Amino acid sequence: MNILAIETSCDETSLALVEARGGLRNPKFRVYKNLISSQIPVHRPFGGVVPNLAKREHIKNLPVLARQIFGKWPIANGKKNGRYKPHLIAVTVGPGLEPALWAGIEFAKKLHTELQAISHTPIALLGANHLEGHLYSFLFSSNLRHLTSNLFPAIALIVSGGHTILLALKNLTTWKKLGETRDDAAGEAFDKVARLLGLPYPGGPEIQKISRRGKPNIPFPRPMAHQKNYDFSFSGLKTSVLYYLRDNANVTNRKTNAAKKLMADVAASFQEAVIDVLAAKTMRAVKEFGAKSVLLSGGVAANKALRAALSREAKKSSARFLVPDYLFNTDNAAMIAVAAYINYLKGKKYKLVARGDMNI
Ligand code: KG4
Ligand code: ZN
Repeated sequence: MNILAIETSCDETSLALVEARGGLRNPKFRVYKNLISSQIPVHRPFGGVVPNLAKREHIKNLPVLARQIFGKWPIANGKKNGRYKPHLIAVTVGPGLEPALWAGIEFAKKLHTELQAISHTPIALLGANHLEGHLYSFLFSSNLRHLTSNLFPAIALIVSGGHTILLALKNLTTWKKLGETRDDAAGEAFDKVARLLGLPYPGGPEIQKISRRGKPNIPFPRPMAHQKNYDFSFSGLKTSVLYYLRDNANVTNRKTNAAKKLMADVAASFQEAVIDVLAAKTMRAVKEFGAKSVLLSGGVAANKALRAALSREAKKSSARFLVPDYLFNTDNAAMIAVAAYINYLKGKKYKLVARGDMNI
């Protein structure tokens, strides 16, 4: 089955064409195209994503990406591109920024009407859950040859700009949410701390970069790490960084070598604190549920130190560690195609209505 997927929940416009086969027992995917048009330069001057600007950019970018897939846009009447004809069109309906989600939904409907008009067979149009997309992106891990029952039960950690969620999976389609963040998401904390350090948006990759030059020698708190629940909280950690920077006035003159060194130490110490908390809770869940694997996903999964820490800890517990290849960590439409394929097979349907606060 060929799936055309559309993702516009935040600041990446993405269109993917993915071939899916194997059913729920052994789902396999071949990514023909996974086009991502990033809006980072547009939002950077504002220090974060501006919803209406995001919507405007998605409306502008979607036809450009569709043209790259179909050769022509709008698709000329009667002329079909057989090779790329999708059997299913999937679009993210939530969670995310509602104006941005609507841009994707409206485009999906239009594309569906145009393609259906030139197709002899019915084309399905399905909504998809962005968080399920992240969750299932572990299927894009090059370390995974086949989906086997040996992976389950599994513990999944989804860490993105908007969410920090821990799930216990019985199998590919049945899970229980163990906990989530009570305030800032992990990625949001990276973005806010980067801002405090005068680094541009998005902050995660910037913090990772300068952390390499620093030492994690500042004892920032590990919020909720030892509480017997699976919830997270990162806003207090961000405040500790704020106070630390305020009390160490020498950082304000950022050009001196001493200040640069201190900023690198702050970044490394903050990064380590976040990773310690994420790893502690994830591994406690692995033990409690006797998990055979740890599945890491979401934009923050691109963080090399986090990948290394969870991989090391999983090994100690004899659990497999799976994380998508780098292309599939931050928002992309290929993961939306995967989520749509699995839900299509299960008969689970989401309405084509934007739901900013949709959960998993
Ligand atoms: O999944 P994603 O692309 O969008 C949401 O669904 O939110 O995640 C974006 C988040 C941003 O907060 C960004 O700073 C963070 O992922 N991120 C990282 C890294 N790369 C992206 N955080 C830490 N280290 C990274 N290397
Ligand atoms: Zn995301």
